[in-house]
Amino acid sequence: MKKLWAGRIQTETNDLVNDFNESLSVDFRMYKQDIEGSMAHAVMLGAQRIISQKDVEAILDGLQSILQDIENGEVELSTDAEDIHMNIEVLLTERIGDAGRRLHTARSRNDQVALDMRLYVMEEVRRLIKLTLGFQRVLIDRAQDHLHTIMPGYTHLQRAQPVTLGHYLMAYAEMFSRDITRLEDCLKRMDFCPLGAGALAATTYPIDRKMVAKKLGFSKITANSLDAVSDRDFCLELLSALSIMMMHLSRLSEEIIFWCSWECGFAEPNDAFATGSSIMPQKKNPDVAELTRGKTGRVYGSLIALLTVMKGLPLAYNKDMQEDKEPVFDAIDTVVQCLAVFTPMMETMIFKPDNMRKAAAKGFLNATDCADYLVKKGMPFRDAYGIVGQLVRESINKGCTLEDLPLSEYQAICPEFGPYIYEAIALENCVNARSVPGGPAPDAVAAHIEALGKFQKDRI
Ligand code: ARG
Repeated sequence: MKKLWAGRIQTETNDLVNDFNESLSVDFRMYKQDIEGSMAHAVMLGAQRIISQKDVEAILDGLQSILQDIENGEVELSTDAEDIHMNIEVLLTERIGDAGRRLHTARSRNDQVALDMRLYVMEEVRRLIKLTLGFQRVLIDRAQDHLHTIMPGYTHLQRAQPVTLGHYLMAYAEMFSRDITRLEDCLKRMDFCPLGAGALAATTYPIDRKMVAKKLGFSKITANSLDAVSDRDFCLELLSALSIMMMHLSRLSEEIIFWCSWECGFAEPNDAFATGSSIMPQKKNPDVAELTRGKTGRVYGSLIALLTVMKGLPLAYNKDMQEDKEPVFDAIDTVVQCLAVFTPMMETMIFKPDNMRKAAAKGFLNATDCADYLVKKGMPFRDAYGIVGQLVRESINKGCTLEDLPLSEYQAICPEFGPYIYEAIALENCVNARSVPGGPAPDAVAAHIEALGKFQKDRI
């Protein structure tokens, strides 16, 4: 097949080079954005009298029919034409003749691909924001149902202080609100139309860049043609936001896997979201969480891959940059898939409040509160800390909890203890007393739920 660039290059391209060079298999998915961009470009060329109105009409009709045919699976694209951009141009020229050959006036594939990628990614970011909001909604709803469900909070994976399941889930809801605002920030910096940058040095034609930008829904145009065609920051920023989001999903996955273990027993996936073993009949595995944890590596890999592609590139476009698409598309697809399955898994997760309560009762989670009891009586915290340390040791020796230790034992170690100590270390009271903003007390968590409810409402 005769290449669009045949001229300087005379002989046929080697087949191996063809296969190596083509990106159609990857960038095919941008056909809609490519057509949309070409339509806006053509209309502008007509308005500026760079091409005739008749040509504009032929181009628009031709592109519209190509769009329909692609969507109906009725066109055959070929890697001979390398990528989606040239395939569409070839098709257009086949259908409308010379007018098709005029479309590329005042444009290069370099600003074209920069545009298509932005349009594609911006649409996907909007979808990702919606999906993340949906997932966050589930976390908030489940937290609302568990404002009073006491569970152990950990540091070093050692039982530390009592919290509630509501508080725990809202910690994740808060992380995802940062992820959502990170995606929104990405959108702001993507919102610059690069068309008109040409191959690298813009164009001598009297184009109207702002008109094209407006037609395509951008609020601004890029400020430097060299930068416009060689900037992939917007992809990197998205990959980094997605990597952070996957890190959050992976941490939550790890919690779920731990909660669903027999050792812990805090939760159980709904049957529809669990898998069995081919050999061990008793198994019910949290595969969704494990696979999400695993896929996190893949998204990080995409970020590192593209950072590495970009790190040594001089201005302006270099073919290396064709390697931007696979990591970006794969990361988007992966996150979309993870959120899609994680949301209903979380929605239907069976929590076991009794087991959580039992676990919170063991492990001296109220030791800090026991020390605080003495502090409230005027003792310096460091001294109180030492005394409670002795009480904990005593309880461990006896195989009991602080609640089970008789008052006489408390008083033998420190006479300041009175009968009110049992109330001070009751788990409910320990949790309810932590009512400062951000704390685990039901009122504090309810306030957080209300705030994130507003965050959600502002975005839907
Ligand atoms: N398929 C190419 C890419 O994705 C399009 C740009 C090609 N430009 C060029 N000068 N060879 O990067």
